[in-house]
Amino acid sequence: MRLAIPLPGNEGFADALAASGDVELGGLEARRFPDGESYIRLDCDVEGRDVDFVCTLADPDPGFLRLIFAADAARDLGARSVNLIAPYLAYMRQDKRFRPGGAVSSFSFARLLSSSFDHLVTVDPHLHRHKSLDALYTLSSMTLHAAPLLAEWVGREIPAPLLIGPDAESEQWVSESARAINAPYAVLSKTRLGDRRVEITVPELSAWAGRQPVLIDDIASSGRTLIEAARQLCAAGFAPPVCAVVHALFAGDAYATLGEVSADIISTDSVPHPTNRVTLAPLIARALADLGAAR
Ligand code: R5P
Repeated sequence: MRLAIPLPGNEGFADALAASGDVELGGLEARRFPDGESYIRLDCDVEGRDVDFVCTLADPDPGFLRLIFAADAARDLGARSVNLIAPYLAYMRQDKRFRPGGAVSSFSFARLLSSSFDHLVTVDPHLHRHKSLDALYTLSSMTLHAAPLLAEWVGREIPAPLLIGPDAESEQWVSESARAINAPYAVLSKTRLGDRRVEITVPELSAWAGRQPVLIDDIASSGRTLIEAARQLCAAGFAPPVCAVVHALFAGDAYATLGEVSADIISTDSVPHPTNRVTLAPLIARALADLGAAR
């Protein structure tokens, strides 16, 4: 049986994982020394075990070192494999040098994780310029997709939906979701003008007038993509949209502002957030079973 050890803040997800599959829960002690350095102690026997650290990577900087320390401790203590279950994988968007002198942090982050873990299981990493995680990571990775689960939720809860991707990149999951529930879909055009500024253009959608728009995206970060898309859909005569996202980062005022222009907001539990309504634990538990079977 695999051993799942949650990093602080990931206990709920690890419990759901244990309830969904053949997974035993382990624990660790994490605290800070008075000077702020991290102390980590594994509170379970990892020798000879396949150890899965459960740690979503939203806001990764404060907890990153203790994750690496925990992984290295498990390896020192004889774990058979040391793996990372990160429902949300951070640092996927700085994947090229946008301005002279800029750090390509996607590669640095991938190198650091690859040096401590054997396998990575994650959900819908933001792959834009690269086809798969193998272009960045040297560890073995498994990429899972939440679009079918979001589609299932929309199909069950929303009568007469019109699925909408806010930008060209979202077409992949919007088209897949629309096919799954036999609903129409459309894709808007987005120009990003800055971290918190986007422009969205809505194409001719009058054929779908009267349908409930459902915006689907992988990440809500500053939230500006969804906020602007919702505003433009309302300006085009649609009802306020339902927004469905995989990764609910919602930095700063994003959640409150999106709430003002949308009918409902739902997300998966890849990042703990009040909008979580779709659990990823069964999907990840099945992937872990496959990982075990493939050994
Ligand atoms: C863009 O390429 C992504 O699919 C998301 O639309 C984007 O990351 C959302 O960012 P924000 O919430 O900051 O607009």
